[in-house]
Amino acid sequence: MERKYPHLCAPITLGRTTFRNRMFSAPMGGTDITNDGCIGPKSIAFYELRAKGGAAAVTVSECMVHPQTDGSHAYHLDESILNSLACATYTADAIRRHGAIASLELSHSGMYSGTYMIDKSKQHGMTQWGPSACVRPDGVQVGELTVEMIQEIVFAYGHVAELAKRAGFELLMIHGGHGWLINQFLSPMFNKRTDEYGGSLENRCRFAVEVLKAVREAVGPFFPIEFRLSGAEFVEEGYGLDEGVRIAQQLEPYINLLHVTAGTYQRTFGITHPSMFTDHGRNVYLAAEIKKHVKVPVATIGGLNDPAQMEEIIASGKADVVYMARALLADPFLPRKVAENRDDEIVRCLRCFTCMAERAATSTRRCTVNPLIGRECEGDEVTPALVKKKVLVAGGGPGGLYAAYTAARRGHQVVLCEKENELGGILKSEQALPFKYEMYQLTGTYEKLARDAGVEIRLNTEVTKEYAEKENADALIIAVGSEPLVPPIPGLDGDNVVVVNNYYREKDKVGSEVVVMGGGLAGCECAIHLAQEGKTVRLVEMQDELAPDANVRHRPLMLRQMEEQGEKLTVCTGHRALRATASGVVCQNKDGREVLVPGKSVICALGQRSRADVVEQLRDAAPFVRVIGDAAKVSTITNAVYWGYHAALDI
Ligand SMILES: Cc1cc2nc3c(=O)[nH]c(=O)nc-3n(C[C@H](O)[C@H](O)[C@H](O)COP(=O)(O)O)c2cc1C
Repeated sequence: MERKYPHLCAPITLGRTTFRNRMFSAPMGGTDITNDGCIGPKSIAFYELRAKGGAAAVTVSECMVHPQTDGSHAYHLDESILNSLACATYTADAIRRHGAIASLELSHSGMYSGTYMIDKSKQHGMTQWGPSACVRPDGVQVGELTVEMIQEIVFAYGHVAELAKRAGFELLMIHGGHGWLINQFLSPMFNKRTDEYGGSLENRCRFAVEVLKAVREAVGPFFPIEFRLSGAEFVEEGYGLDEGVRIAQQLEPYINLLHVTAGTYQRTFGITHPSMFTDHGRNVYLAAEIKKHVKVPVATIGGLNDPAQMEEIIASGKADVVYMARALLADPFLPRKVAENRDDEIVRCLRCFTCMAERAATSTRRCTVNPLIGRECEGDEVTPALVKKKVLVAGGGPGGLYAAYTAARRGHQVVLCEKENELGGILKSEQALPFKYEMYQLTGTYEKLARDAGVEIRLNTEVTKEYAEKENADALIIAVGSEPLVPPIPGLDGDNVVVVNNYYREKDKVGSEVVVMGGGLAGCECAIHLAQEGKTVRLVEMQDELAPDANVRHRPLMLRQMEEQGEKLTVCTGHRALRATASGVVCQNKDGREVLVPGKSVICALGQRSRADVVEQLRDAAPFVRVIGDAAKVSTITNAVYWGYHAALDI
């Protein structure tokens, strides 16, 4: 068989271990950890699915090596904990039995220990330890590790490495990037020591080298060891790519794979985890440059989800391996689809950060486009229905499409009706925003999956009670979504007013000076886009806070984008819109005074409301009825897809 992406599909040997292709699953961790620090069954199933999906290596994330000085990620491998080795062994085995290599990431968070996994209530009860004493930006005191403590941590790396090997892991990723302990030693920003662990580059690398030697000693000469290095830190006081190259050269003798990531978790989150506002593969150049100066194979990572781009990276010699984190949440089967020339079936990551936000908020996993994430234990196979039924889906947004696709996979006869002449529902509006174009494209992917599964799609077809009854379906899934909220503010019916959902088809109506009414997620993103187009934008919002509906990871990055628009974008919070006029929006400001926020065009982005009347009309139109997505409650695409999936399983 001729593979469409031969370089991505070519095996690679590191140490004496051969990996089946060049697509590796990056660490994504820290959920479903038992109280005594073991990997729970949900996490085992999560890692297993990544292996089943075809990744060559699956990294189990952040095993803490020295709980006495680290409390970040809770998961640790320790013989004194009943079950610890057993859980690790079950995990490695769950990965290995699908032909992937199980890898374990060994980590220590150093001065940032306990910040986001354990210390959620910000009690700062733990002592934080780093290369140098300091006070963290959040006011937490950090103590300087003594040489004895450093030696103890080095020893712990070796000990945990030995246990990991015993448990069946066949690759170890030593986490030396993202601002955690080893990175803190490498970095002139954190490391102010004057002893043999600080100062010169060689001294700053000493801790990393000692750790790598201890791990090598524990696992033997042929076992592959990988080092995760931020190629550059992207902060003035940190190291840049030049030093990244020199650090790589120092570490090269001790490793089999150099994994080049970027930035630090605390300071450059949007570089370490490239957001929708940046290019795919924005960090590849770091790996490519370092690769020119080392002989050891190099891996790259960061916003990669396109097989053609990844093929080019390997083919052109920029890197030897590509790692993906979020892309494999969106579609764990991406590597298998690449290998089987089914890349048009890949569900792409939207870089919406639901995954990371959910983890921060509830310590669970979720993905907008993949309803199974975090719930793999419940089984990734869609069970065929015992009795085949006729299913009618009203509404062709993401939730309706996913419900239809899932019902068809179960063997039901499925008809999906969309009242407009195009599928997508609320996602249609995203086509106007280049940074959200992938969200728009999701419709096309789901449509393909649904059609291939046998769904009949009828456009320009509204499901009324009469229509549904005539169809005589056994099950009806109501996915009619929501409609824009246009409050009775005078002037909103004016010719110069465009409702944000319609902007994609009424772009021409929007001039060079615009007022955006409403500072929720939709209003803010539209304002960014208009400013990027060179327009002068003023955003008015009644509350003091912008975009409370955005998730905690996306929101700060989006607010930064707003700031970066400079004078093009002015934000007027605490402004209650009174009326829209031909020359702008008259608002009441916080002092109670009326002010005109000027702008000849007005975008109305004041929220959505469920299509409750349609739902009520359809409630008794079939024996089994389920309301999903915005039609049930104005919410997220994540919920629409998740509820759609389960509605289809419940039929
Ligand atoms: C949900 C989630 C959890 C993550 N957890 C870890 C982790 O435990 N250890 C780590 O080194 N990196 C972690 N990362 C960072 C990823 O490994 C990766 O470096 C980053 O997401 C960029 O890759 P991507 O653009 O392919 O997502 C995590 C990323 C995500 C999305």
